Amino acid sequence: MGVVSAAMSVPSLEIPYRFFIEETMPKPKYHILVCTNSRPPGHPKPSCGSAGAAQLLMAFNMGLMQRAVPPGEVLVSATGCLGPCEQGPTVVVYPDNTWYSKVTEADVVTILEEHVAKGTPAAKLNPDSVWK
Ligand code: FES
Repeated sequence: MGVVSAAMSVPSLEIPYRFFIEETMPKPKYHILVCTNSRPPGHPKPSCGSAGAAQLLMAFNMGLMQRAVPPGEVLVSATGCLGPCEQGPTVVVYPDNTWYSKVTEADVVTILEEHVAKGTPAAKLNPDSVWK
């Protein structure tokens, strides 16, 4: 009782496991990283999470769907702290290694329409200002 027999199998897990091993995914054209790090209430250091990063993540995903960007062509990932917390929310667009600071939901449209669609970092958002 309570001991799993060596002869016992879990066939329902075999197919998904094989899928992850054998399947590949297309290399995305862009990868958008959105820092969604949060800190406990009262923490002295600001965080992107407390500055609305979750809404940005949703706005990027909704914006891609609304523009009918094919699945996998642009990936959006939530990340932990990327470093420049005082200038968050922080968004980084690869492969260009372009860093956007203090990103708002309105900026998401600009990033999608100028950077992702046209291939040029959105100058009006002062990209890479975190490095200057
Ligand atoms: S919490 Fe987002 S950059 Fe540090």
